[in-house]
Amino acid sequence: MRRSATDLLRRADVFARLPESDLRQISKLLRERRIGRNQVLFGQGDAVEAMYVVVDGRIRIATSQATGRERVLAFLGPGEVVGEMGLLRGGARSATATAVTDTRLLQLRKADFDALLANNLNLMRELARVVARRRAAMQHRLLAETSYERGGPSGIVSVIFSPRGGAGATTLATNLAVALAQRAPDSVALVDLNLLFGHVPLLLDLNPRTSLAAISAASIRQMEREAVEFYLTTHPGSSLRVFAGVLRPEEGELVTPAHVKAALELLRRMFAHVIVDIGPGFSEPNLAALESAHNVLIVCTADRAGVRAVTECQRICRELLRLPGDPLQYLLNHPSPYPSLSAEQLELEHALNARLIGSVPYGGETVARAALEGLPVVSRSPHSAVSRAIIGVAERMQAQLSEALQLATRRASTPQGAYAELTGAAPV
Ligand SMILES: Nc1ncnc2c1ncn2[C@@H]1O[C@H](COP(=O)(O)OP(=O)(O)O)[C@@H](O)[C@H]1O
Ligand SMILES: [Mg+2]
Repeated sequence: MRRSATDLLRRADVFARLPESDLRQISKLLRERRIGRNQVLFGQGDAVEAMYVVVDGRIRIATSQATGRERVLAFLGPGEVVGEMGLLRGGARSATATAVTDTRLLQLRKADFDALLANNLNLMRELARVVARRRAAMQHRLLAETSYERGGPSGIVSVIFSPRGGAGATTLATNLAVALAQRAPDSVALVDLNLLFGHVPLLLDLNPRTSLAAISAASIRQMEREAVEFYLTTHPGSSLRVFAGVLRPEEGELVTPAHVKAALELLRRMFAHVIVDIGPGFSEPNLAALESAHNVLIVCTADRAGVRAVTECQRICRELLRLPGDPLQYLLNHPSPYPSLSAEQLELEHALNARLIGSVPYGGETVARAALEGLPVVSRSPHSAVSRAIIGVAERMQAQLSEALQLATRRASTPQGAYAELTGAAPV
């Protein structure tokens, strides 16, 4: 327990850079606590008594607003610290922490924390760093929200596309969307445009009530936010909203390019990130999605056939479709355990003349088990190499969006234009 407690502390932001001797001292003060699913760890307005480190499970942090509506601020998982802001600021809790699943935590009482802080300069410095970073993240979020309130469509549509099936597009789209939603709750939507045998709902253990195929394009264009929520299914572990293209394969033909365009236009008025998973091929609905995208992430496998397919796909996007702003970025994936070539060996950036946003390693059983259990791998095994790589890509996407918003604010232009300028290889 002692040893695992210091290992766990090292995963938490605030403690990660402290020397081993400090970690041992802190770990002696920790007490284990277990809370069941839906149980409240602390409530908004409560006196601050302790902070916690999550061992396993997941905690949702939310505030209730004057209107009575709940606003989710964050989801915290293994290795993350809960409630340290209250300890620093003093006063009452500003938000409620509830267990999303059965959760095990390590508790550090306020009196012990205060004594530690008074005597430990390292800890004080680390806390200041973490607080500054959280404040910056909050400001980015506020900036994004004000730009929605000004009325303009602000969200970025990212299409995840692989020219060949089996490259991992659906796995990556789903996990990227979850990772983004966990970092910016209530601001991410995932559209499943696999019109034959889509399996996004299975990967997330969701049962969509209805689908894009069930509505007319005209009524999508007139929809208000409340009405849209009816068509979206919320993933409880992350706040991600999922929009299913179809519920059954035979509905596929009902989804027209007009549907796709109207749905993506509507969703980007409501969400900061709209992630779209499309199947392979250049069908009419796929072309409509590609034409609506500000960001096209092409999933490439690390072999010559993969690069060849991606090169062809790039030629089609650039020469035939003439997508505005050259929105292509590449994501290298390793869906099989066989030896593969490195990004350098493939000379990807050179061959494709476009940005490589990340490389996801082979995740083996971890990925397969997560899929079987209907849990996204980034939640089930957040510290595995495959999850860390996916989370890294999500953070890059978030950073690209924040940069675009800042640039757009300075120039009084649209975030989408600024986004294309920041991510596109070619000048706009
Ligand atoms: N990085 C990875 N490591 C291990 N398995 C992976 C990885 N990426 C994808 N897979 C597996 O490969 C298979 C195909 O993935 P999928 O996302 O359905 O591909 P696509 O949507 O491109 O057809 C799935 O069984 C998935 O679990
Ligand atoms: Mg797929």
